Amino acid sequence: TGNVTLDAGFTNTASCTSAITYIDGDAGILRYRGYPIEQLAEQSTFIETSYLLIYGHLPSASELAEFTERIRQHTMLHEDLKGFFQGFPRDAHPMPVLSSAVSALSTFYQDSLDPFDKEQVEISTIRLLAKLPTIAAYAYKKSVGQPFLYPDNNLSLAENFLRMTFGVPATTYDLDPEMVKALDLLLILHADHEQNCSTSTVRLVGSSHANLFASVSAGINALFGPLHGGANQAVLEMLERINSADYDVDTFMAKVKNKEDGVRLMGFGHRVYKNYDPRAAIIKKTAHELLDRMGGNDELLDIAMRLEEIALADDYFVERKLYPNVDFYTGLIYKSMGFPTRMFTVLFALGRLPGWIAQWREMIEDPATKIGRPRQVYIGETERDYVALSDR
Ligand code: CMC
Repeated sequence: TGNVTLDAGFTNTASCTSAITYIDGDAGILRYRGYPIEQLAEQSTFIETSYLLIYGHLPSASELAEFTERIRQHTMLHEDLKGFFQGFPRDAHPMPVLSSAVSALSTFYQDSLDPFDKEQVEISTIRLLAKLPTIAAYAYKKSVGQPFLYPDNNLSLAENFLRMTFGVPATTYDLDPEMVKALDLLLILHADHEQNCSTSTVRLVGSSHANLFASVSAGINALFGPLHGGANQAVLEMLERINSADYDVDTFMAKVKNKEDGVRLMGFGHRVYKNYDPRAAIIKKTAHELLDRMGGNDELLDIAMRLEEIALADDYFVERKLYPNVDFYTGLIYKSMGFPTRMFTVLFALGRLPGWIAQWREMIEDPATKIGRPRQVYIGETERDYVALSDR
C-alpha cells in the first residue's frame, strides 16, 4: 500500500485550507469569518450572515440591500419544476424531495453551470438561496395535500418560508414576529460548521468540477443521515419514545451506556466539540422561552432536561466528553413552531445552505484544489485464478 496512512472517518486528516469557519472544540468556540457565533446570533440576520459567509465580510447597508433584493427576485420556482413535486408519493420524506428538486435545478438553468465563470456562479448562488425555501415549503405542501403558495416578495426570507409552509390561499397567514425571529436565529446557528460530512461531500463532488446545484444536492443527501442532520428528527423521536412510556429515562440511559442495540443518546456527542456545543447553549435558552410562550410540549422538554442533567453528571458521558450538540434542543423548538418531525432536517438544510455555497466557492477558487480522491488500504484476496462456473 506504499506511503498511505489509514484515517477512517478522517478524524485527523485536513482535506483543505479554509478561511470561513473556526472551531475550537475543546473550548467550545465557533466563529464565522472571525465573528463569534454568540454575537451573530444576538445581532445579525440570516441574510446578513449568509453574505458574510459567502463574501467574507459583513456587508455595508447598500451591499446588504442589493443582496436581499437580488434574492427576492428569484424566489419563484419555474412552473414546470412545480409539476415535479406531483410525481412523488404523498408520504415521501421531504429531504429526498429537496435534494431531487435541487438536482433538477441543473436542468432548468443550463446556461449557468460553469463552475469557473464568476457570473454564472453568482447567479447560481442567488438562485439557490432564493429558491431553497420555496422548494422546502412545497415539499411540505405536497405531503399535506395543500396547494403551493407563490412567494410574497414583501416578506423576509424567514417570513416568506413560514407563510409558504403554513399559509393557505383561503385565509391570511398571520406572521408571529417571535417565531420569525426564532427561525432566523436557528438558521444563523446552522449556517456553517467547517468540514462536516455534508460540507465535505459538497466539496468532494465539486472537486470533480460538478456544478453548484449538483454539489449541494449531494450535500443535502449527506445531511439526511441520522448521525448528521437527521439527528434533530432522531432526538424528537427518542424523546417521544421515552414519553410514551416505552421505557423511563433511567432505563433508557442504562441502554445507552450498555450500548444495547446500538442505542445512543441522540443529540449528544460531536466529532469536534469535546465541550458544550456553543450553539446548543444559545438554543437551550430559546427553547425555554418559545416553549413557555407557545405552550409547546413541556413534557418533552422536561425529559430532555433530565437526560441532559443525568448525562452531564455521569462517568460514561464525562469520560467520553459527550455534551449536548446543536440538535439536542432544536427539534423541540421546531415542534413548538408547528413543523412535523419530518421537516426538521429540511430546516437544517435551509440553514446550512450558505455554508455549503461559501465552501464550494472557496474550493473552486483555490488553486491548490485537486479532485478529491482518497486512497485505501486493501485487505482483500491476493491474486487468484478464475475458476470456471462448472468447477465451483
Ligand atoms: N450516545 C452514547 N454514546 C456515544 C454517543 C452518544 N450520543 N456519541 C458517542 N458515544 C460514544 C461512542 O459509543 C464511543 O464510545 P467507545 O469509546 O466506548 O467506543 C465514544 O463515545 C466516541 O464516539 P464515536 O462514535 O467514536 O465519535 P464520533 O466522533 O465518530 O461521532 C457523533 C460523533 C456525533 C456521530 C456521535 O457522537 C453520535 O452518534 N451522536 C449522536 C448523533 C448526533 O447527535 N448527531 C448530531 C451531530 S451535531 C449536528 C451535525 O453535525 O449533524
